Amino acid sequence: MLAATLMSVCAMSEVNYQTIPLAKQINIDATGKQATIVKGTTAVTYTANNAQMKRNAEFAKEFLGVQPIESRKAMKETLNLTTGLQSENPDAYRITVDKKGITIQGASESGVFYGLQTLRKSVMLEKGDTIRLPYATIEDEPRFLYRGAMLDCARHYMPTEFVKKFIDIIALHGANKFHWHLTDDQGWRAEIKALPDLAKKGSYRPYTIMGRNVGLWDMENAIYDDTPEEGYYTQEEMQEVVAYAAERYITVIPEIDLPGHMVAALSVYPELGCTGGPYFVRPYWGVDPDVLCAGNPKTLEFIHTVLGEICQIFPSKYIHVGGDESPRVRWEHCDKCQAKKKELGLANEAQLQTYILKDVEKFLANHNRELIGWDEILEGGLSDNATVMSWRGYNGGIEAAKQHHKVIMTPTDNCYIDYYQLKDINRQPYGIGGYLPLSKVYSMEPIPAELSEEEGKYILGAQCNLWTEYVVSPDHAMFMLLPRLAAMSEVQWMQPEAKNYEKFCERLGGMQQMYRKLGYKYCAAYE
Ligand code: ACM
Ligand code: ZN
Repeated sequence: MLAATLMSVCAMSEVNYQTIPLAKQINIDATGKQATIVKGTTAVTYTANNAQMKRNAEFAKEFLGVQPIESRKAMKETLNLTTGLQSENPDAYRITVDKKGITIQGASESGVFYGLQTLRKSVMLEKGDTIRLPYATIEDEPRFLYRGAMLDCARHYMPTEFVKKFIDIIALHGANKFHWHLTDDQGWRAEIKALPDLAKKGSYRPYTIMGRNVGLWDMENAIYDDTPEEGYYTQEEMQEVVAYAAERYITVIPEIDLPGHMVAALSVYPELGCTGGPYFVRPYWGVDPDVLCAGNPKTLEFIHTVLGEICQIFPSKYIHVGGDESPRVRWEHCDKCQAKKKELGLANEAQLQTYILKDVEKFLANHNRELIGWDEILEGGLSDNATVMSWRGYNGGIEAAKQHHKVIMTPTDNCYIDYYQLKDINRQPYGIGGYLPLSKVYSMEPIPAELSEEEGKYILGAQCNLWTEYVVSPDHAMFMLLPRLAAMSEVQWMQPEAKNYEKFCERLGGMQQMYRKLGYKYCAAYE
């Protein structure tokens, strides 16, 4: 009797499919019956002659210890991966656990991948080689088609290996866009073959400010470290990252920030600036008055050369061209810029920025691409097809959606994960300031109430942004990212009425154990 009770206790499954993000519908069979996965033994079958499904089966091996077998037919007690789920959402999936074993059916290959991630998270903490899963049907689909995370690799270079790890982490959380901030005043990190000095010289700064800026670039009173910061991505490395992300259904959206945040490039090509320089790769942070000259025809040539190669490396439909924090003070005092303004009959300098972006939009359209810019691109009037990334709150996104432009919501208040995550400054590494606790990320609603239902459809999704002025290492980056990315994943996947912060926190314990198992650093405290 005792033995029988113990046996049944041992055989009881802890699996309850309570993952982050939480699936839309979880129906666990009342009979208590279970299917099993035996590590190293259970087969995973998948649609034949489909490279993506083959790769999905390899992920199943990595995540669950099952053995890939190419097959058209489902076998008994296997994990079956298949497409064909009827849904307009390509990322939708259904997991069925029954007497035939476990079936993941996706609306497309990406849906199968997300189903695998959910299954992986469901069984991650099971011990031993035999995993028991209660019979169940799980249905899920993400609310938003754009589910992003941004990593700034310009302020601090992050090794390619970590960029891939970052992609693994965001894939675990169901993201499908990796926004890669590659260039800024403090470093140019993308190799451009036609302009070899750009990355070679523009990626190097001999030292970096310690602590926060003292006054505005107060060079005399600031204290600098004595540590060069350098490193850039070769085109081969960037292609490797693109391919690595694509296997995980993640599109890499590169950002070449222009016409501001360009001092690293100006340091190599000073003739592209209004004053002619000299310029140096900035060892401090902030909004720099030196930007690309809007009146010099060489500026557009430079942009075309850079973006031409960027388009060859990155197949993404969207190319991010920045547009944020670009002061116009140099343009106001530059003969070339003023002549251009007069020639085009422009009312102000903001329209000079729009003139550049309209040219860039045309260039990208010729390469079958579309432009994304930060919300400042609204100021001189949007180019026809621009997608707006709203960061200074929600208003830019609201205005753009009302003008029927596509929008990605990344407001500082909910999405800037370079901000502190705990009230007590002393409990976390030195940072840029601000306060963005986990609960505040979780509370984000990407579609503002001000928008009509029709206008709301222009909100493609949401994204968290990790700027790295004060984030100096991969471990530090993960600490800032996790667990706030987990909260963002429920914003990106779940319907607002299904979200519940207390229940999310209950599920977070399992996710934290998973982070430890995978070697991901995270902030253990949260508010
Ligand atoms: C930004 O944070 N400057 C887009
Ligand atoms: Zn100028």
